[in-house]
Amino acid sequence: MEKSYLHNPVLAREVISFLNPAPGEIIVDATIGGAGHSEQILHKITPGGMLIGIDRDEETLRLASERLRPFEGSFKLINKNFKYLKEILKDIGVSKANGIIFDMGISSIQMEAWQRGFSIKMDGPLDMRMDRNQRLTAKDLVNGLSERELSIIIKDLGEERFHGRIARRIVEERRKKEISTTAELTEVILRSLPYVNNKYKIHPATRTFQALRIKTNDELDSISEALMELPEALEKGARACVISFHSLEDRIAKHTFKKFKAEGIFNILTKKPIVADENEVIANPRSRSAKLRVGERL
Ligand SMILES: C[S@@+](CC[C@H](N)C(=O)[O-])C[C@H]1O[C@@H](n2cnc3c(N)ncnc32)[C@H](O)[C@@H]1O
Repeated sequence: MEKSYLHNPVLAREVISFLNPAPGEIIVDATIGGAGHSEQILHKITPGGMLIGIDRDEETLRLASERLRPFEGSFKLINKNFKYLKEILKDIGVSKANGIIFDMGISSIQMEAWQRGFSIKMDGPLDMRMDRNQRLTAKDLVNGLSERELSIIIKDLGEERFHGRIARRIVEERRKKEISTTAELTEVILRSLPYVNNKYKIHPATRTFQALRIKTNDELDSISEALMELPEALEKGARACVISFHSLEDRIAKHTFKKFKAEGIFNILTKKPIVADENEVIANPRSRSAKLRVGERL
């Protein structure tokens, strides 16, 4: 069981320092995942406090509740998309929280489960849904979108320069046979590229996989919608920490905080996003592209 908890919380020291959680407070972890951040928050808010942990992945919540068992009674886990933040708080009778953290993307628990189809390294179904009750899968996108739609998604969400070649090859290959596994898709991508795989730092299919994951889960819209609910969801003085791994996610956080500042309802506590130091990057390579922005409700 220990292995299921291997998700290392990113920028945890910085997040705890900004949230500055105190006993009796209500803190929302909008992306509880492996509960790495939540466990540290619970140490600070108990006794008397309450952690509200949200995740759209039901399986992840089961693991989080096991990890947090020592804090039984001090947390509530909610299986929903965080874009329903206001509604979630209302349903559990909380008017406003004392702090919130978003740690975007997927956890290593999800990445390492071959059945979920997130990984290039392990063959599995082309699924990529965070919420397994959702109907749309990555396979539907890969086999259903037009060449132009695929090209745009791979370009915009994957920032992949060979988006056109990859989209063309996908469409050619799926005419012969449906593409239904991660290994099949990886193979198609590799065959569409003009270079040799092992010359590059990241796997050449990484960007396309990222694009399909973001699109399958409609990740950017969820982030925009959730952040827009922050003013109503937070007490005065409460802080919102947003960790993103993609330039478009970071841009949403940056612009939303700017807009709130212009309206006089938020202060921005991070002029530039905070990134992981060298030691953290060595210990936890996932932190390499993490960017933390923090806003404070006025
Ligand atoms: C990077 S992990 C969080 C890891 C966590 N901070 C920890 O320390 O273990 C992101 C989690 O957020 C969830 N998630 C992503 N987008 C979501 C959304 N829109 N609504 C709810 N949960 C979401 C994913 O399912 C995943 O479990």
